[in-house]
Amino acid sequence: MSPDRAKSAREVLAFYVEAGVDAAIGETANDYLSAPAPAAAPPDALSGGGDTPAARPALVMPRNLETKGGATPPPAIPEAAVMAAREAARSAASLDELRDILDRFDGCALKATASRLVFADGNPQARLMFVGEAPGREEDIEGLAFVGRSGKLLDQMLKAIGLDRTQAYIANIVPWRPPGNRTPTPVETQICLPFIQRQIELANPDILICIGQPSTAALLRVQGIMKNRGRWFPYDTGTREIRAMPMLHPAYLLRTPIAKRLAWRDFLAIKKALG
Ligand code: URA
Repeated sequence: MSPDRAKSAREVLAFYVEAGVDAAIGETANDYLSAPAPAAAPPDALSGGGDTPAARPALVMPRNLETKGGATPPPAIPEAAVMAAREAARSAASLDELRDILDRFDGCALKATASRLVFADGNPQARLMFVGEAPGREEDIEGLAFVGRSGKLLDQMLKAIGLDRTQAYIANIVPWRPPGNRTPTPVETQICLPFIQRQIELANPDILICIGQPSTAALLRVQGIMKNRGRWFPYDTGTREIRAMPMLHPAYLLRTPIAKRLAWRDFLAIKKALG
């Protein structure tokens, strides 16, 4: 390779890393911008239901690139994978069992690209449980939830109300890192949902905090993090009803420091609820 081409390649790689794309997930690069749209892709082409990992596209295309000039129906939720997840999750009698079952579960394509399962961090006996969206790069390396920059901010917020990770249990809706830290797709979320629901049931916290919009939408079925943060919602764990509250994601707070005062208010409400 000529020195010029090598320099360009290094610059492109640096750009990818800065944009959060730091994991190679296939042998060849796909140019989704110039590739023709898959004309008659079945609605569940991106699902784990029945197709082999090799037959699945390596990356999920952004919705607006899927077809030219026409709305694409959202991919159908693969019922078989969701049913398998429900059954597997239900069969776990303890958090340790759930972790093992999840580690063996092959129904979610994210497992193939992540380095490892990120099940949780903190104290499963805690009265307070946080559920975020999905692991990022640091979590994928360490195998623990919220250990990167967002996690450090979460630790500071906990400290501000006199708590630390020995008094909180922390997990995610999706336990495998999505490539390049992209948002988990609705299909991935639906497949992983029975596991986090069972994890909450087995941990049995008194207070559940949904970190960010995806977690709030998946667990509480409400849309709009700005209007719902700081509000208490009932959450049925399967064995009892507890209190749940959406909070702004620490990654958002890092980008928007002015919003930290809202998070401070929410943390005071958490402290009060813990009594
Ligand atoms: N963001 C999340 O939602 N979860 C993590 O574990 C880390 C960052």
